[in-house]
Amino acid sequence: MSPGAAAASFVAASGQPLAVSDFAEWREAARELLKAGVPPEAVSWGTPEGGDLFSGAPPAAGPDDNAGNPPLQSSQPPRPANPGSSPRVPRALMEMLQKAACFRAPDRWAFLYRVLWRWTRGEHDVQSPADPDGSRLHGMVKAVRREEHDMHAYIRFRERPIDAGPPRFVAWFEPRHDVLPQVAQHFVARMGKVSWMIATPDASVLWDGNTLHNTGPLMSSAADLDDAGEALWLTYYRSIFNPARVNAQLMQSHIPSRFWKNLPEGAIVPSLVSQAELGARKIGQVQAVGRRSGATIPISAEAAQPDREQPSKLDECRRCELWQYATQAVGGEGSKRSPIMIVGEQPGDQEDLAGKPFVGPAGKLLDRVFAEAQVDRKSIYLTNAVKHFKWEPRGKRRLHKTPVQREVEACHYWLEKELAAVKPKVIVAMGSTALKSVMRKGTVTLKDFLGKPVRVDGCWVVTIYHPSYVLRVPDEASKHEAFSVMVKGLKLAYELLERPDVPEPE
Ligand code: URA
Repeated sequence: MSPGAAAASFVAASGQPLAVSDFAEWREAARELLKAGVPPEAVSWGTPEGGDLFSGAPPAAGPDDNAGNPPLQSSQPPRPANPGSSPRVPRALMEMLQKAACFRAPDRWAFLYRVLWRWTRGEHDVQSPADPDGSRLHGMVKAVRREEHDMHAYIRFRERPIDAGPPRFVAWFEPRHDVLPQVAQHFVARMGKVSWMIATPDASVLWDGNTLHNTGPLMSSAADLDDAGEALWLTYYRSIFNPARVNAQLMQSHIPSRFWKNLPEGAIVPSLVSQAELGARKIGQVQAVGRRSGATIPISAEAAQPDREQPSKLDECRRCELWQYATQAVGGEGSKRSPIMIVGEQPGDQEDLAGKPFVGPAGKLLDRVFAEAQVDRKSIYLTNAVKHFKWEPRGKRRLHKTPVQREVEACHYWLEKELAAVKPKVIVAMGSTALKSVMRKGTVTLKDFLGKPVRVDGCWVVTIYHPSYVLRVPDEASKHEAFSVMVKGLKLAYELLERPDVPEPE
């Protein structure tokens, strides 16, 4: 008896999970199950090791069931579509099932069998994305194709010393789906006779120049790689890196961040990008800036006369050096008639890319503060003391760097324009940089102003924590406390609107 037929009769006889380890085994078992008319709900699929990869609910056991009495045969008779004959399945569907079989999901074999079963029962819609199963099938195929592509694109072989013996090249990759076998075939075709190994957390493949060997996991991380050859690769990478054409945003969207950590060039890209921004890119940028319509800062009618020698558009600002490192300037946002203006420090990584203030993690926290204080974000004006993102490369990330007072002062030019246009009655300064900017003094400290509103140029200034501080404080109690200081500060800002004559506290 073939393994598939044996499997089908085993399932029918025992109700035990049917263990398959790959698509070929599943296909053979599925064919026999279909021939025997065993419906999907009667099969519980598993892995050979007896892992927990089964989901399809096992057939409901009736009170009379026992090992020799197949559960489904007693409660639900088999329904062969065409008893005894081998079901015919179109090649396109079979190819989709084969691809989808690489998708890591606990119920993948049960799901594939359900699709097959439905198709053989005449439900051909199951292949369509409009059908719920069809939609899932298409999604699985797409995800597997993408993983294959990513593994082809982002795997990096590192050369080992010649005296270390084979394999000459070793690569580490952490695939999300079971795509190692087909990816290995791709490299067999590309790398000729040289020996190589691809290691992943679950399995490895070794090509000795003639034969491909599949083994279990041989390494546990990229740190196990022998780094010989990496210097050569980095030299090559530096030489092909074209600073004039670099687009950090595009690089990030093309190479998802999970791959950077295992790419040898991941460590040098941030510094190459920042050098590019300081050098060749500057030339192109200067020309491009003149053509941009740019973010606008509201300017009141009285201040509408253009300042000689001063930038009239935020995007053209060169009042300090920070423009060189940022993707774009980020102006304020919100209601220009708001009696309350909230001032943060400077745009972060995500704000720099999006061109909008407070859209990253600090913004999400701020939204929670707004919700708690019952403030509609759109009803207030939200801006930053500094309009360009200041950062330093750290590994593959751009880490926020606090602006110095000279930069805060330079950017005050724009805050003044915003204040003149919006004319808020209350300014909420979030954190130390905002406070220094609003007070125009680099020596003021947050603790002296928290919870103590002061009048500046006819306006109330309420000081609260910056949302990043709330995100940063380690223990829950302090986080909670800092959060409520922010909420209280916002509520106070609204109270001050109602009581504009409240004398300034001592
Ligand atoms: N932090 C800020 O101060 N401003 C932003 O826009 C984002 C983070």
